[in-house]
Amino acid sequence: MKKLSDTATIDFNDENSNTSSNPTFDSVLAARLSRRGLLRGSVGTMGTALLGSFAVAACGGGDDEVVAAPGETLLGFNAVSKSLADAVIVPAGYTASVIYALGDPLKATTPAFKNDGTDADYENRAGDHHDGMEWFGLSGDGKLSASSTDRGLLAVNHEATTDEKLSSFFMHANGGTTTLPRPASEIDKEVAAHGISVVEVKKTSGKWATVQSSAFNFRLTALSDIEIAGPARGNALMVTKFSPTGTRTRGTLNNCGTGKTPWGTFLTGEENWFGYFTRGAADDAARGNDKSVTSLKRYGRNQGAASRHGWESGGTEDKYARWINSKLGASADGSDDYRNEMNGMGYIVEIDVLDKSRPAKKRTFLGRFAHESAAFGTPVVGQPLVVYMGDDARNEYVYKYVSTALWSAADANPADRMATGDKYLDNGKLYVAKYNADGSGQWIELSLANPLIANYAGYKFADQADIVVNARIAGDAVGATKMDRPEWGGVNPANGEIYQTLTNNSNRRVEPSGSTQLAPDASNPRVYTDMKGSTAQPGNPNGHLLRMKEGSAGGAATTFTWDIYLFGAEAGADKGVVNISSLTADQDFSSPDGLVFSPSTGICWIQTDDGAYTDVTNNMMLAAIPGRVGDGGKKTLSFTKADGSKLDVVTAVGKAPTPSTLKRFLVGPVGCEITGLCETPDGKTMFINIQHPGENTLHANIGDPAKYTSQWPTNAGYGPGKRPRSATIVITKNDGGRIGS
Ligand code: FEO
Ligand code: CA
Ligand code: CA
Ligand code: CA
Repeated sequence: MKKLSDTATIDFNDENSNTSSNPTFDSVLAARLSRRGLLRGSVGTMGTALLGSFAVAACGGGDDEVVAAPGETLLGFNAVSKSLADAVIVPAGYTASVIYALGDPLKATTPAFKNDGTDADYENRAGDHHDGMEWFGLSGDGKLSASSTDRGLLAVNHEATTDEKLSSFFMHANGGTTTLPRPASEIDKEVAAHGISVVEVKKTSGKWATVQSSAFNFRLTALSDIEIAGPARGNALMVTKFSPTGTRTRGTLNNCGTGKTPWGTFLTGEENWFGYFTRGAADDAARGNDKSVTSLKRYGRNQGAASRHGWESGGTEDKYARWINSKLGASADGSDDYRNEMNGMGYIVEIDVLDKSRPAKKRTFLGRFAHESAAFGTPVVGQPLVVYMGDDARNEYVYKYVSTALWSAADANPADRMATGDKYLDNGKLYVAKYNADGSGQWIELSLANPLIANYAGYKFADQADIVVNARIAGDAVGATKMDRPEWGGVNPANGEIYQTLTNNSNRRVEPSGSTQLAPDASNPRVYTDMKGSTAQPGNPNGHLLRMKEGSAGGAATTFTWDIYLFGAEAGADKGVVNISSLTADQDFSSPDGLVFSPSTGICWIQTDDGAYTDVTNNMMLAAIPGRVGDGGKKTLSFTKADGSKLDVVTAVGKAPTPSTLKRFLVGPVGCEITGLCETPDGKTMFINIQHPGENTLHANIGDPAKYTSQWPTNAGYGPGKRPRSATIVITKNDGGRIGS
């Protein structure tokens, strides 16, 4: 649910609080050019000077190709055309079926979903806004199985709800209340529709379905009891009335991207959680303007901030009061109020999907920010484990976590999965990325050992807990590179290179003004205006995909090289500065978001969450066979300033795709984003999620189904009613082949 709008429209999914003054690429570039005395010199000279020193990773042989099976052609399907139809469209020879939609029951005793706004008991139903998703195969005796292809558990994120004017209006018969206070009954339903679900799926006589009576099924909601793990456990920053010892919190919220650990647990990333909290209008002074105010502002909560749903207004009960992130009590430590409650959100959360009796754990060492996916580097016995992560807000950072414990093969199938999580995820190092203009990069450790952090004037870090809880501020302190909204990351199983989607950034300008606009730089090099009807969309409206190759130390390396794999663009856009990847009509896309490499085929699946190109096409999924860092060349993008002077940005661009290395595979229904992807280990069954079809429906039109912008999946024959529903679909190939062949 991402808008490009630069206007004052409130979008709780598009927070933008990085006004830190750490250098952007532009200033790195300017300093460099200035040293060479070339800043306002001739474009050609500047380009040559930089090109001459641009570090590019060595191009290797053919060891990084995906592997087709005998007789198989990967990306052999016919590309799907762009579409505005209210339908899921897949290539000829494929079938897509809905199996798990908002409200579907997870217990034998839960009533069937009516889809008219009267349904309740969401604790025992599929939540809303299906997002990231992982597959956990089950053997016949109900154990984790790496080889099962016909029975497994899907762990599904339920990121948010379709809402307008406070209310998740499709969940309420009349659309719900649009003013404060809101009734507790509405709030309770909405809280329960957030979080994650685990649901058993099974193939019987060739047909996939969920198992409604499965004892494995369960939900975690925005109210479930969850443990704090890692450096922030028991820290003063985590003390609340609910947990005076700072060891527990309630709920996981705005669950977006996912990950799967090498030991078989589920990781869910908490993204736009800050919007659910409210702060009193005079809370800065109530806090004595201490450093907690700095933290709250950096994480998008100025005093007086209103909450997205008004969940704090349900009554005096503690479960509503917790959403008031103000200092209200007299205690010194926060044990009598919820002034610290927001510090309990914003993590990668680990869940043992096979054992719902084990408490989920917030793995705080992986940092607190607007998390998307958690992508593991390929585990190597005797080496640390590495997790790559993005912070999705305009001008935010890319991170990695490196474990202290070295990977042991025995841990791939441990007796205690959550204890294995403790071993690898609670002790390590957190790094933030800095992308240099010469194509190199650094991973900068976020710890007090770094003088830039220990001596940072903007915030006095107390300890490692303070650093991970305030990872964004630590990133500011070390001069991390501000990116165009880092969404999912993925690791290419063929060569270990890391792919990172950068979905878009409406704040890039050739001549930035104010504290949030940025000039283009080497790793975020485009600034242009795309028209959507009569609306101008400035900045980098279509996004790009960056990739990195670690230095010789592998996952533990502190240096890397990078290039830009692909630029999103309309096929008809200018190839010089916009459609740099020369995308054709069968390949063009905007706002890449989800990114998952198939462990079976090696195909890189790219999913979009776009608002820029949606006048021409609904959101989509593409299949890609990528190359490697350095397989293309350097490129200079030349921009003209108002006074006629030039700003040149040199970047590294991957080899342009061909019809056989990038192809559109799927287009979704109206108003949806495509997200989440997992497969059975044979690559023959794929599950993906259709999130928020009908998103732009107005609350006022709840009584008139003809005015819903989508009626999917009812119009595809799934379930009652006409209200649109987020849902998991299963994709198979009619000839039984692998998906993407
Ligand atoms: Fe939940 Fe940044 O997408
Ligand atoms: Ca356009
Ligand atoms: Ca996303
Ligand atoms: Ca997005």
